[in-house]
Amino acid sequence: MTDNFAHRAAEWDNPSKVEMTKKFVAALTESIEIKNHWRALEIGAGTGLVGLQLLPYVGSVVFEDTSAAMLGILKQKLNGDEVVEIVEGEVFEYKNQDVDFVFSCMAFHHIPVIEKTLEHLYQITNPGATIVVGDIRSEDGSFHHFEPIPHKGFDTAELSEKFEKAGFKVLSAENYNILKRERTPGVFTDYEQFMLVATKKITK
Ligand SMILES: C[S@@+](CC[C@H](N)C(=O)[O-])C[C@H]1O[C@@H](n2cnc3c(N)ncnc32)[C@H](O)[C@@H]1O
Repeated sequence: MTDNFAHRAAEWDNPSKVEMTKKFVAALTESIEIKNHWRALEIGAGTGLVGLQLLPYVGSVVFEDTSAAMLGILKQKLNGDEVVEIVEGEVFEYKNQDVDFVFSCMAFHHIPVIEKTLEHLYQITNPGATIVVGDIRSEDGSFHHFEPIPHKGFDTAELSEKFEKAGFKVLSAENYNILKRERTPGVFTDYEQFMLVATKKITK
């Protein structure tokens, strides 16, 4: 599989990305009550900017990502004492049915088939599990410089429907930040970042 983030990994942890992930974590901790026994799974964990902030609040974190290069940077940050697991590959590689909490920041738009991913999350999560996904709302493709990408953001009503169909109850899908970016010289665009919070239903 091509590592689309190989050339970006070494420079990923810049001040703008750190700030972006702090905003995600702040919004997340305001939205849900994290339990310290939870086994958490981060989808598209990258260099661990989000997951390492949340690790002190949970029992363990599984960091999952398709990019060996991004995970390589994460590994350099670990000292070996942390209760973590690293899964290189798609989320389908993680098969243990023991997850209480799934979170993901700015990675869902890179995942080709959302329905299949949500069906898998239903299989590997415990009853009542919490899912928190942060991403951008539908955009014209400029966020990724019109490069081919699985999703040009998301319509949260459509995304919520997919969650409900997969067996999750969507509790909220609100904006938590606006990213102002100059993707075309002289043209500033606001990209709305939303946070979708869902829980696993008892029955589908
Ligand atoms: C925009 S980065 C976000 C990284 C990290 N969540 C953060 O906020 O710093 C997207 C991440 O998703 C990963 N990714 C891309 N496609 C993926 C997939 N199908 N499954 C899991 N992760 C994927 C990329 O390798 C990359 O690390």
